[in-house]
Amino acid sequence: MSDPVTTMKQEVGRAAANRVQSDSIVGLGSGSTAAYAIEYIGDRLAKGEIKNIVGVPTSFQAEVLAKEFKIPLVTLDAIDHIDIAIDGADEVDPQKNMIKGGGAAHTREKVVDSLANEFIVVVDDGKLVDKLGSTFLLPVEVIPMALAPVMRSLAKLGGKPELRMAAKKAGPVVTDQGNLVIDVKFDHITNPGEMEKTINNFPGVLENGLFVGVADLVLVGKIVDGKPEISQF
Ligand code: 5RP
Repeated sequence: MSDPVTTMKQEVGRAAANRVQSDSIVGLGSGSTAAYAIEYIGDRLAKGEIKNIVGVPTSFQAEVLAKEFKIPLVTLDAIDHIDIAIDGADEVDPQKNMIKGGGAAHTREKVVDSLANEFIVVVDDGKLVDKLGSTFLLPVEVIPMALAPVMRSLAKLGGKPELRMAAKKAGPVVTDQGNLVIDVKFDHITNPGEMEKTINNFPGVLENGLFVGVADLVLVGKIVDGKPEISQF
């Protein structure tokens, strides 16, 4: 039997997958919650509940899963829009602004999620915060040769930067683009939109994990009386 957090992730992933309609181009998110959405989209395709779906993966992980669940894939040069994207998040504030990048995939995620006509975020209630930066460090993808100056610029901005190290590899995490990730602790992020632009302006930064004004709908999984419940805002 799965633990309550896994059950929430599955249910919220399923709820998002149920919103995908036939004949649509779907942005496929990264992380453990988005993975369930990919699985359930694949299930619905296999059962014939939906037809003519193509996916745009946000990471190597999403690409592998889409292939496993037989979702045909396209690249951005082959399409002119994305109908719906489904992706996870690490923190979500009441304005639907987010921190993403727990899986170091935020650069491609931002490209795909921002292009979608409807971007649905799938989280459990532990991800909801009043202010961004309360619980999660802000991921910043940086090209390797710019690591030191970007670390210094982030410290000058008031952050505490640390290079993300790999769990099952010696040395740092390397992104799907071959770059590094700096995780930055900020005491408070008062203006996420300003901070997103400021950090992206540091030479050598590819993208940071602040997603401001991108999400359309947040699906939240919660366990109530031992049972998963989905709410939305
Ligand atoms: C990856 C992400 C993920 O969507 C985010 O980390 C949430 O993952 P999970 O659903 O496993 O908690 O931004 O870069």
